[in-house]
Amino acid sequence: MIRRVEVVPDRDWAGRAAEALAARLRDRPHARLCLPTGDTPRPVYRALVELARRGEAPFDGAELIALDEYLGLPPDDPARADVSLRRDLIDALSPGPAAFHAIDADAPDPEAEARRHDAVAAEGIDLAVLGLGVNGHVGLNEPGSPADSPTRVVTLAAESRAVATGRYGASAPPTRGITLGLGRLLAAREVWLLVAGAHKAAPLARAIVGPEGSDCPASFLRRHPRYRVFADASAAALLDA
Ligand code: PGA
Repeated sequence: MIRRVEVVPDRDWAGRAAEALAARLRDRPHARLCLPTGDTPRPVYRALVELARRGEAPFDGAELIALDEYLGLPPDDPARADVSLRRDLIDALSPGPAAFHAIDADAPDPEAEARRHDAVAAEGIDLAVLGLGVNGHVGLNEPGSPADSPTRVVTLAAESRAVATGRYGASAPPTRGITLGLGRLLAAREVWLLVAGAHKAAPLARAIVGPEGSDCPASFLRRHPRYRVFADASAAALLDA
């Protein structure tokens, strides 16, 4: 498992992950990418925007697919995944991606919206880029999620609610969300996990060397034959070299 983890010095981490993503876009101009939101990908997106400006990250043929979304937040809430992915990446790209498949947090029937988004993802994901929750979640597949979890409406774990209001500035604590299921993510051609910061050291060790189990949904990613982890040195501190 460890051989799949690329530990990058803290200061180079985001640039290295962005370079790797840009290379995928060059190799596969019509790539369908599932992209996360949150604090971890933000510096990667900043570096990607810079690469795109230099013509080294061609997004114009790519389709972006939302990983997850909170329910119950107002349309302009800064914590919403659609708002944050547009703000941190899409709006800064010129030309923009060929498509952005968001999850409609305002859909009157969230269960139907989960099914609709799942059908979009089922058309294929070339690369699923994921973040790691402090509680071991991926997307909003919270602890307790089995490896074959479907795309669905979920109840958020306490840690996820706290992150939404604390770090992401949600105007109210969201209690529910929609997430691509682990089953759908494991069906992607390739899966990357981005992990940065000392607060992720314990969850990363659990996800990489701990026993596989639904108490740490990220541990199931090890089943994927093309699984790559980009971790900064702080996050990798508890992994043996
Ligand atoms: P973060 O979120 O990148 O903001 O830490 C990751 C996650 O909780 O999935």
